Amino acid sequence: MAEVNRVWRLRKRPVGMIGDDVLSLEQEQIPEPSDGQFVFRMNYLSLDPTNRIWMSDMDQYMPPVAIGDAMRGIVCGTVVKSSNAGFVVGDIVSGLGTWAEYQVGTTATVGKMGPLGGVPVADAFGLFAAIGPTAYFGLIDIGAAKAGETVVVSAAAGAVGSVVGQIAKIKGCRAVGLAGSDAKCKWIVDELGFDAAINYKTENLAEALKRTCPLGIDIYFDNVGGDILDACLKQMNLKGRIPLCGLISQYNATGEVPGPKNYPMILMQRLKVEGFIILDYASRYPEAIDALAQWMQQGKLKFHVDMHEGMENAVSTLRKLYTGENQGKLMLHVA
Ligand SMILES: NC(=O)c1ccc[n+]([C@@H]2O[C@H](COP(=O)([O-])OP(=O)(O)OC[C@H]3O[C@@H](n4cnc5c(N)ncnc54)[C@H](OP(=O)(O)O)[C@@H]3O)[C@@H](O)[C@H]2O)c1
Repeated sequence: MAEVNRVWRLRKRPVGMIGDDVLSLEQEQIPEPSDGQFVFRMNYLSLDPTNRIWMSDMDQYMPPVAIGDAMRGIVCGTVVKSSNAGFVVGDIVSGLGTWAEYQVGTTATVGKMGPLGGVPVADAFGLFAAIGPTAYFGLIDIGAAKAGETVVVSAAAGAVGSVVGQIAKIKGCRAVGLAGSDAKCKWIVDELGFDAAINYKTENLAEALKRTCPLGIDIYFDNVGGDILDACLKQMNLKGRIPLCGLISQYNATGEVPGPKNYPMILMQRLKVEGFIILDYASRYPEAIDALAQWMQQGKLKFHVDMHEGMENAVSTLRKLYTGENQGKLMLHVA
């Protein structure tokens, strides 16, 4: 075991894009487990848009990370010391932890990863910890996707979006993805099987949505909010659904964010807009994991991990989410 632990601590609230001075990488002692606890060494750190929310003190669904605290993160690691009869050295665990190479785990926040059925650990962690269930429950439970419907998803070449489009296809829907580059658009159509893709940075969005969704939009799976939400609202069908999964276009906003101009469409088209946080579905995770694992085994679902290296690169890698430099699930290989 290395003698030193490296921990990213929050030093100040970010303003706009996360600056280099928002977190600092500290050298600390490796913790010891108390009764009922275990210590694990982080193998993979999931980098998620919500990390930016947790760093801020905006209204949010969990308490913000306190200044001086270790940064919160979704983590996967290997048990190196245990004072809990249920965990032995070598167990692979995942859950809600911190940006620390070594950290204490308890069953309240971290659990053993089940049999992986041949799926590599990083893929299983990336897909099953949060992303896959988010796509699954957002589209099936909240979106109530039905065969023959048209599903539009934003950030479609990202982690959640890439899975949403593929589940839409599995459910017999037309899947249209919005992404920020031609390469991403090509990838989601050619490799992931989307019916169509729109580069929202270069195309006229209203025209492109008309062309790719000739029967209108039944479900808009919103990962970004802002102008893209507005453009989709305008073309929603009667009784359409908008699972509101994320608002990444405004996480770095420094001023007030204007509301959607096309808000009246919710009334005129009798739309259902429902925000959701995946933590609320914790008790139903097995349902999503079973379905996702089966689709992977059947070759119907592809999952791409965009892997980067090194604890020291956590912040610079995280920033890629807000500049669109990631494709698939952004993750850091730590050890
Ligand atoms: N509700 C929940 O429980 C839950 C759980 C997980 C994730 N989420 C949310 O789901 C969304 C996607 O998360 P993810 O983990 O899958 O991330 P991701 O899609 O892998 O990465 C973020 C992507 O967002 C796009 N983006 C960044 N800034 C944008 C902007 N200003 N306008 C439009 N697109 C922008 C970029 O792609 P382009 O190149 O296409 O711009 C980027 O690659 C986020 O909003 C996140 O907060 C919610």
